[in-house]
Amino acid sequence: MRVLFRVRGSNAIMCGIVGYVGPRPARELLLGGLARLEYRGYDSAGLAIGQNGALRSVRQVGKIADLAAVVDDGSESFPGSYGVGHTRWATHGAPTTPNAHPHFDCTGEVAIVHNGIIENWVELKAWLEGRGHGFASDTDTEVAAHLIEEMSTLPLAQAVAEVLSRCEGALALAVIRRSDPGLVVGGRKGSPLVIGRGSGENFLASDIPAFIAHTRRMMVVPEDRVVEVRSDSVRITDLSGVEQEPEEQDVEWDMEAAEKGGYPTFMLKEIYEQPQAVAETLLGRIGPTGEPMLDGTGLNAEVAKDVDKVFVVACGTSYHAGMMAKYALERWAKIPVEVDLSSEFRYRDPVLNPRSLVIGISQSGETADTLGAVRYARGQGAKVAAVTNVVGSSLAREAHIVLQTRAGPEIGVAASKTFIAQMALLQLLGLHMAIERGVMTTAQASGPVNALRSLPDRLEEVLELSDEMLELANRWRDVRDFFFLGRSVDYPAALEGALKLKELAYVRAEGYAAGEMKHGPIALIEPGVVVFGVATDRRLRSKMFSNLSEMKARGGTVVTLVGEEDVGEAAVTSDLVIPLPEDAALIGAVLAVVPLQLFSYHLATIKGLNVDQPRNLAKTVTVE
Ligand code: AGP
Repeated sequence: MRVLFRVRGSNAIMCGIVGYVGPRPARELLLGGLARLEYRGYDSAGLAIGQNGALRSVRQVGKIADLAAVVDDGSESFPGSYGVGHTRWATHGAPTTPNAHPHFDCTGEVAIVHNGIIENWVELKAWLEGRGHGFASDTDTEVAAHLIEEMSTLPLAQAVAEVLSRCEGALALAVIRRSDPGLVVGGRKGSPLVIGRGSGENFLASDIPAFIAHTRRMMVVPEDRVVEVRSDSVRITDLSGVEQEPEEQDVEWDMEAAEKGGYPTFMLKEIYEQPQAVAETLLGRIGPTGEPMLDGTGLNAEVAKDVDKVFVVACGTSYHAGMMAKYALERWAKIPVEVDLSSEFRYRDPVLNPRSLVIGISQSGETADTLGAVRYARGQGAKVAAVTNVVGSSLAREAHIVLQTRAGPEIGVAASKTFIAQMALLQLLGLHMAIERGVMTTAQASGPVNALRSLPDRLEEVLELSDEMLELANRWRDVRDFFFLGRSVDYPAALEGALKLKELAYVRAEGYAAGEMKHGPIALIEPGVVVFGVATDRRLRSKMFSNLSEMKARGGTVVTLVGEEDVGEAAVTSDLVIPLPEDAALIGAVLAVVPLQLFSYHLATIKGLNVDQPRNLAKTVTVE
């Protein structure tokens, strides 16, 4: 059956998994498969290979080439025709060799690799330690190896099914056991797992590129399923052991398309990964009664209560996230917040003290301007918090408090999913601080918390606007003058919309506070100028609509992004209205950014520009 295999809203995959069973040397197939998954970024790698009842493994921080130098040294020290391999994008535990996968049980009988997050790993680890298990790493994954050890008398597939049942969160597992030669068992619960069907050999992987060079026959492992992979058979069962009829498909992608999950570019893939990036960032951070949970970040109740002022320092898109954070922290936690461009912060002699909290926001965690700002803050005795997407980054290492977004590696130079993940985490921080400081009860915070919970679904809805934004990009492909206007929390959303148009489509665009236009910039409005108005904050809609009518009155073409309930009113002062899901608790401004991302993406694509690596830009700006 010919199917163009398209993964919509595919998982924000953080790690790479490869499994192989067949007649060929497993080390070659595993290393080759891991190399095909390199594009997503990782900090360590490893593999385990079975041969005649023995398991051999190697893992280390660094690149696949370093691993190959050890494994493929010609000494045949890694014989064996079945095994598992892994590239790790650290989420729990720093990027060190002991934290690299595979992980093992106490006896070395079981080798396991994992993609995702085991939410309840702390209590499972405590239970296992109580039963005498010793741990060699501080990862969530190792817990699964010891759980399988507890079930050493069960068939491996049944033990893996039990692990999926007991672990909460997102798991894709691949496991081998010394006493089960020629068998790789996989398990899927919330993280992707696919099978490559070869002739006399089979593959298991977190993503298609790992095996597409060897076979185009593939199967998707469904949710809550276990798969037994042997060289001549693949058997899928549900968690109670009932066999499931797998559906084989042909992959139509070439290698390059496969690395992008079927999307034409990493940028578009990452725009569509935004729902999953938010879901994974919030995973395990909202308790059963709706309370924000930031355990393990260093932000304890004492610090939360003691802070008397917050300073946010960031650059570019992260700066816009910081501006939005100001609204959350001041509105909910009643803490005064100042937001600075990192490159300006330390030159204005900010007044800091030990009760100051300086939050550095940086997806890379390596931006020199932001590192300089937080180092200055530490020197002034302030507490420093990091909001970053890279575990073990310089910013994370130099902060007292680390709030990790879990958007997965972001390959596109222009930020998308890391920004949305920052927004979600910063709003959760605002609610957490409000509750810790006694300004809000958990019950009073339930509205904004539920709005955050629904954010992934709302993001899926606004992604449906892509065709409309493509139509506008075609209509305005020759326009050279754009304004993006907003008030309150919609103002940073407008700034981000303008930045995306500049950096992706190389078009001059100004983000401006809508109320400020009449103090000068309105002189630029004339026929041919396109004005995007972000008007999701319902309290200010009438002021916003009157600002936009001033633009329209002077010949500007006005496009208003507004909650569905205000579409009729907005239509009076707009040439076009883009409806968004109802705003709830600052979520509207976050949602408004997505159609603006898509507009800039489509305009850049129409112009034939490289949306993954725009000219003059770097993914990490390590110079001041
Ligand atoms: C993002 O689209 C921009 N390319 C850029 O402004 C970026 O946001 C800025 O350089 C900050 O990067 P950081 O989040 O890694 O610190």
